[in-house]
Amino acid sequence: MFKSFAIWNCVAMWFPVHTMCLRVHAARQRGATLLKRLRHRDANVSPSSQSAGRWAQTCQALIYRHHGDPSLVVQLEDAPLPPAGAKDVVVELLAAPINPSDINMIQGTYAILPDLPAVGGNECVAQVVEVGNQVRDLKTGDWVIPRDAGLGTWRTKAVVAEDDVISVPNNIPLLAAATLGVNPCTAFRMLSDFEELKPGDSVIQNAANSGVGQAVIQIAAARGINTINVIRDRSDFLQLSDRLKVMGASHVIREEALRRPEMKELFKTCPKPKLALNGVGGKSATELLRHLQVGGSMVTYGGMSKQPVTVPVSALIFKDVKVRGFWVTQWKRDQSHDGEAFRRMLDELCSLILQGKLTAPACTEVHLQDYQKALEAAMQPFTSTKYVLIM
Ligand SMILES: NC(=O)c1ccc[n+]([C@@H]2O[C@H](COP(=O)([O-])OP(=O)(O)OC[C@H]3O[C@@H](n4cnc5c(N)ncnc54)[C@H](OP(=O)(O)O)[C@@H]3O)[C@@H](O)[C@H]2O)c1
Repeated sequence: MFKSFAIWNCVAMWFPVHTMCLRVHAARQRGATLLKRLRHRDANVSPSSQSAGRWAQTCQALIYRHHGDPSLVVQLEDAPLPPAGAKDVVVELLAAPINPSDINMIQGTYAILPDLPAVGGNECVAQVVEVGNQVRDLKTGDWVIPRDAGLGTWRTKAVVAEDDVISVPNNIPLLAAATLGVNPCTAFRMLSDFEELKPGDSVIQNAANSGVGQAVIQIAAARGINTINVIRDRSDFLQLSDRLKVMGASHVIREEALRRPEMKELFKTCPKPKLALNGVGGKSATELLRHLQVGGSMVTYGGMSKQPVTVPVSALIFKDVKVRGFWVTQWKRDQSHDGEAFRRMLDELCSLILQGKLTAPACTEVHLQDYQKALEAAMQPFTSTKYVLIM
């Protein structure tokens, strides 16, 4: 009885990570993947690492057993850690942000959902504190971030396969490392993979004050690309606008301005954008399309307004715009066979961080114990800050 309980706990605490699955996948495929992962892991468990005395370790983790309102279903619990295998590393989590996709996963509305119970969170920076004897590239003290979504990062400690994480320099700021793997990577890919952008070209984006938006502003500025940044009106608009301009934003405008004659004035000094980045959907996305160059692309990566994207017929017929989508999780999975493209991108992003050209978004640090306040605050509009759990 005790043995099967312990095994269940190991599986429940760690394998939700590995059993993440696209809901659209066939059940048979899911079963086969899980079996493969379990076998792979069994093979990694060395005799010494199975000693109960040595591995009776626990961590604290934010666990949810049902989908629902995150501030109601998430609880801080003590959880056992599974034994570390020869190809595993033990990591201490340092910091992990609360992103919209984390909230959607807990609500049960995201495209990929872990089996329950699950640990919340998909992104973090962690420090390696122990390595298995067959670990090739990591050593104690290294900083790592997850390679894929679904790691369950809101916890103090974890045992992970070496291949599930990737190292980042440990001399970059903690918050930049904790928020590196999702938003800057999304911004980097969207600025690289859809239109050939040269210095002097321009990009228009909504939700410009989001984590993605702030990374777009800074990466674009480092490449000499103009950004037209659209945000919702608010009482502190000028303060926020100034903050985005300090980061490198060329123009910051209110949503309402997109329909006004002042846009004509703006385009006297700034070329029409080749690329529009849409994290909002609804009317906001339609307005972005109105300002695209002929033949330009609009890339949708988020739907914060929960409204569908409507494409005017004229934009398709007379401007031949391309309407595309991007999901960084899929990009990472598509690259997983060699990992070189991910490594190159992280190296470039970390080099920008070290040069002071890319900073973390505005963040509010919250101790893990105060998770409830952080979850509630992260779901409020107009916060203009990323809540980051500090372990
Ligand atoms: N496809 C991908 O690979 C990918 C990767 C990363 C992120 N994302 C998505 O990108 C979006 C932004 O993520 P993030 O981490 O950058 O977010 P974030 O830092 O938490 O910022 C949220 C942004 O959404 C805006 N917003 C919230 N509710 C809104 C509404 N009803 N209408 C219009 N704007 C609204 C906020 O503007 P206010 O300040 O005005 O509230 C803010 O700009 C999310 O949908 C996320 O899931 C997608």
